[in-house]
Order: sequence, then structure tokens, then C-alpha cells
Amino acid sequence: MPKLIVVTREGEERTVDGDTGLSVMEVIRDNGFDELLALCGGCCSCATCHVHVDPEFAAKLPPMSEDENDLLDSASDRNDQSRLSCQIPFTDALDGLKVTIAAED
Ligand code: FES
Repeated sequence: MPKLIVVTREGEERTVDGDTGLSVMEVIRDNGFDELLALCGGCCSCATCHVHVDPEFAAKLPPMSEDENDLLDSASDRNDQSRLSCQIPFTDALDGLKVTIAAED
């Protein structure tokens, strides 16, 4: 099972196992990180699943859709590493992926 490294807003780092077939958001949520609200449940309409992705993995991520890009524009903590975690399917290729939960808007 591939591993996901999650860094909380307080800087605490934890490595969790993630089922492939879930999104990165679902892996984070299912492991009890309550600060990732994911209010819309993964349908790309809330931006409360915003994370910053380790740049080492940038090339392995699916391209960003226009909707995701527009939603991220509304997030105050957006930077070059910003993605909506519900839009990233968790796969074996992402084993060791490190994401940091972005600041709350
Ligand atoms: S959970 Fe709402 S946009 Fe990702």
C-alpha cells in the first residue's frame, strides 16, 4: 500500500497508508485529519481540500483542470505547489507523496 506523508498546519508530520482508488483528499480525511474540511465531498466546488504538494512529485500529478484552477484562485494561501487534494487520485506512482495542508481561508 503506498504511503502518504501529511504535514498539518501546525507542522506536525505523519505518514499514513493510502488505498489506491481513493483521492488524496479521501486518504487524508480517512486518517483523521479534521483540519482538512473537504466540505463538498470531492466534487471540486469548495477548495477546502487545498494542499501544497512536494515539488518533487509535480510531474507525476494529473494536470489541473480549469475548474480547479479557478477555485484555487479564490484561496488566499495559493502558491506554485497548490492543488485541490480531491482532484488527485492516489496511485502507487505517488508512494511517498508529501502534502502540506494549506492555511484556512
Ligand atoms: S473537497 Fe471540495 S474542492 Fe475538494
